[in-house]
Amino acid sequence: MDNNNQAGWSSKIGFILAAAGSAVGLGNLWRFPYIAAYNGGGAFLLLYLITLFTIGFTLVVLETGIGYRFRKNPVDSMKQINKRFGFIGSVGIIAVTIILGFYSVVGGWIMHYLVFAASHPLSNATQEYFQSFVSRPVLPLLYTVLFLFATAFIVYRGVQEGIEKYSKIMMPLLFVLLFGLVVRSFFLPNAAEGLKYFFKPDFSKINSMTFFSTLGQAFFSLSVGMGIFITYGAYLPEDKKFPIGSSASVIALDTLVSVLAGMMIFPAIFSFNLSMNAGPTLIFITLPKIFASFPFGSIVGVVFFILLFLAALTSTISMIEVSVAYLHGKYGLPRSKAVIGYAIFCVVLAVPFSLAFGLWSDVKIFGYNFFDFGDTVASNILLPAGGFLMCVAVGWFYGAEKLRVFASDKANAVFALMVKYLAPAAVLLVFIDAMGWLK
Ligand code: PHE
Repeated sequence: MDNNNQAGWSSKIGFILAAAGSAVGLGNLWRFPYIAAYNGGGAFLLLYLITLFTIGFTLVVLETGIGYRFRKNPVDSMKQINKRFGFIGSVGIIAVTIILGFYSVVGGWIMHYLVFAASHPLSNATQEYFQSFVSRPVLPLLYTVLFLFATAFIVYRGVQEGIEKYSKIMMPLLFVLLFGLVVRSFFLPNAAEGLKYFFKPDFSKINSMTFFSTLGQAFFSLSVGMGIFITYGAYLPEDKKFPIGSSASVIALDTLVSVLAGMMIFPAIFSFNLSMNAGPTLIFITLPKIFASFPFGSIVGVVFFILLFLAALTSTISMIEVSVAYLHGKYGLPRSKAVIGYAIFCVVLAVPFSLAFGLWSDVKIFGYNFFDFGDTVASNILLPAGGFLMCVAVGWFYGAEKLRVFASDKANAVFALMVKYLAPAAVLLVFIDAMGWLK
């Protein structure tokens, strides 16, 4: 088995928590509530659930099944189907590398804000403060290096001793903190209004555009299309039966975090009559402003940034592991060298992403700064391309039923149809939408 001379997961729960760690990230916490708010609340939620458990599920099972059957890194696993399909794995690895580059910049910001929230009144975390921090040339980069170091440290220790062990601590902690914050939100004036808005379905907001944002969000949130599940699937213990329930659990946990994030954020926004933003504005400006007015707000702020830190870290771990598995398979590099070499490479890669907020903010590629360009290329182009190509390779050239992921032949036949037709068609639509060709 190609798992860097180390044992794979010691148990299914190890796989579930590590894979859920990959899926649960900033996508759930800073993007999901915003998309839900603007796309019909409960109606969006319903659509999202349906999408996740049909197309999302197909892609997660497909990737995990590829890794489980071929037991190799994404490139070598795809080569088992056809020697010329190795490039499909490479597309994923390139996407992961770019995402890691900008994700760790945000990871660095989170670490800085954690330190800040612990040592300053939160009311100082203003818009101006955020702007002046992210535009500095060196300090944010130092935090990015620290964040990458934390990620590399865990991956360096191995699959079982590093990723699995730490996921088993970090994921439960993440849930506890998130529950705590949701409960805190419940006690805010107007909390009910916020919750009502989040859960009340407004079907008039549902249209084809909503459907595409739903799919796009589902792919990014599940971390599919990049070979992460191939890599993690290869570390599953070989058994008579493929652990299909584990894939479902990963999706369920990812969805649960998204829903809880909504239940934490909506009441807060409604109580303070603020408008819902996505991304950095939401987590670094709007929410700290809200926490600042709470009694013991600093504690809430610290808990919140620990939560974000855990969510981001368990995602970046999976990104490094994909590339480490590949470097090991391709060049025979031992884990230690692969991790150190790749982490250093990522530090260099993070430089333009970080400087995009200051010194190099005027440098534009196709009208985007470095950060947005990287995000767009990886999330909107490479990720759907990777997912699409995997579906085509397995669906049309191999036969998804041969992965034997389900116990019954009938279920495998349905799965094969999903992989062959429904999933690639859906991915293609998301891609076309992301390119703006439908507008
Ligand atoms: N799924 C993660 C999130 O929602 C993002 C991610 C992308 C993780 C790519 C791993 C790989 O934030």
